[in-house]
Amino acid sequence: MTVDYALLARQLAALLDTRDWLTNSAQTTAFLMQALPELNWAGFYLQREPETLCLGPFQGKPACHPIPFSKGVCGAAARTRTTQRIDDVHAVADHIACDAASRAELVVPILVADRLWGVLDLDSPVKGRFSEADQAGIESLVAVFLAQTDLAERP
Ligand code: SME
Repeated sequence: MTVDYALLARQLAALLDTRDWLTNSAQTTAFLMQALPELNWAGFYLQREPETLCLGPFQGKPACHPIPFSKGVCGAAARTRTTQRIDDVHAVADHIACDAASRAELVVPILVADRLWGVLDLDSPVKGRFSEADQAGIESLVAVFLAQTDLAERP
């Protein structure tokens, strides 16, 4: 499936009309759920305590909280500070199953002044849902969020 990420980036930029991190992160999750096909969960996890991801604004079923940096796909993104793109979460030994429907996952780390602020986590019920092009597109949407938001040092 082809998604016009350049168009979505312009739409998200127009939607984020505050610089408030809470409002913008809530809007971003709602926007992603509406704009991207085949997602069952979209949300932020925030580093509110050292080496721990706390559940932030999200869309989807109630989710796992807290997640230590040492665990799961989100923990790997936080630890390594690199995007994790997983075709089949069943193949990941320490994947944390919040929603049994999730099959593919994409987790993008968010850094502020060399501190891991949090991660954006997207889940899909479709195996192999996220291509390299999706990864690049979603990273560009995270860049829009970052550019238009004042991220508190401690959310
Ligand atoms: N599956 C994630 C946990 C978060 S939920 O998908 C919302 C993980 O393994 O880190």
